[in-house]
Amino acid sequence: MGSMIRKVKGTRDILPPDSRLWVEVEATAHRVFGGFGYEEIRLPLLESTELFVRSVGEDTDIVSKEMYTFADRKGRSLTLRPEGTASVARAFVENGLGQRPQPLRLTYLGPMFRYEKMQRGRYRQFAQIGIEILGAAAPQADVEVLLVLHTFLAALGFDDLIIVLNNLGDPEDRPRFIDGLKAELSPHREKLCSDCQRRWDANPLRILDCKVPSCRELVAETTPVADVVSDEAKRHVEEVEAGLAALDIKVRRAPRLVRGLDYYLRTVFEVISPQLGEDTVICGGGRYDRLISDLGGSRIPGTGFAIGEDRLVEVLPESFRNRVLDRPVVAVLPLGAEAAATGLGVTRDLAARGITAPTEVTGRSLKAGLKWAGKIGARAAIIIGQTELEANAAIVRDLARSEQQTVSLDQVPVIIARLLQKKEHE
Ligand code: HAM
Repeated sequence: MGSMIRKVKGTRDILPPDSRLWVEVEATAHRVFGGFGYEEIRLPLLESTELFVRSVGEDTDIVSKEMYTFADRKGRSLTLRPEGTASVARAFVENGLGQRPQPLRLTYLGPMFRYEKMQRGRYRQFAQIGIEILGAAAPQADVEVLLVLHTFLAALGFDDLIIVLNNLGDPEDRPRFIDGLKAELSPHREKLCSDCQRRWDANPLRILDCKVPSCRELVAETTPVADVVSDEAKRHVEEVEAGLAALDIKVRRAPRLVRGLDYYLRTVFEVISPQLGEDTVICGGGRYDRLISDLGGSRIPGTGFAIGEDRLVEVLPESFRNRVLDRPVVAVLPLGAEAAATGLGVTRDLAARGITAPTEVTGRSLKAGLKWAGKIGARAAIIIGQTELEANAAIVRDLARSEQQTVSLDQVPVIIARLLQKKEHE
């Protein structure tokens, strides 16, 4: 006998019934995003390494230490995508999507890969659900993106999530900000952690994002980036905030929020769940007006977000979980080989009405069949024995009440629908 093979560290098997939560979350995303005009783009999981180096940035944690990069058989450097925005931008340029009516509204979902230290809510293969709006420079596009996010989270029943937002200014503002930051921090430079020592030259903005408490304390004393950005950038994010206020969407300023990817400018935001805390955010997003031109396209602005689906599912509200997980099931029990096809026909008729009613196909006796029905949590059983088969009928048994009745086959869907509407202990 061979030894058991285990899954790769950091990957997960999403098993039923939990997988139902994923299916329903994704269906809700498509419905909500679709209503705002977003259409799905399906992107490859494999991209040229160069794409992420040029977009996410060489000195980010993602590119410098978290990518699954390998040479293919011809020696080309490929990377399992760590995020989706770079691929959307690449696809925009490569497919000439600038020719379509602008702005273009796109949504995507699927697995991303980052070689990260495992912990709750942090995996090496995880899924994102994202949207991007391309070709709209105005603050209204940021407002829309945040409204879509807010509407989606509300549709899932969330009411305790916090949206935090910051203004990173434009790339032209950055050297000024970084000079100021370094001037303020330099008296304390040796107190910064070893990671921040490295960031000092490579990517000083990321010092603001350090999780080490002593670094946080030092950073808390520094001038917020939003205070040193251009008037135009200031006005942009203020207009985003005004638009959100008009829609009654609450956001909180997070003066040290910088995000871990280099392409952002002006508006950046994250969604925090009180359950997971600030270090395990549910969603990140923002504006990236230079990304497409950096990838060889024209000056097309963009803004969007990506939700971490693993984390989202982990903190789904009880109401949503119950609605999805408590879906009733009916067991169809044909007795004997002659009844088997009739049983499957009943399953088909019930399935067509949205009722889940698997057929017993292993040839169990009535007694064993009822036991199986109990194990799968069936609310009712539909029993088709020799007598019923000859009469074109079935026994519908209410398993909670232990009552049963014989009905003609074409009546089964109606009777079952009625039975499922009754509460179990009415
Ligand atoms: P990000 O903040 O790197 O942004 O990732 C977005 C979300 O993906 C995070 O907020 C988190 O929920 C989830 N996530 C990231 N890494 C992991 C992990 N190791 N395990 C589980 N979940 C994770 C982006 O990727 C940008 N592309 C978002 C964006 C879209 N910005 C503009 N448009």
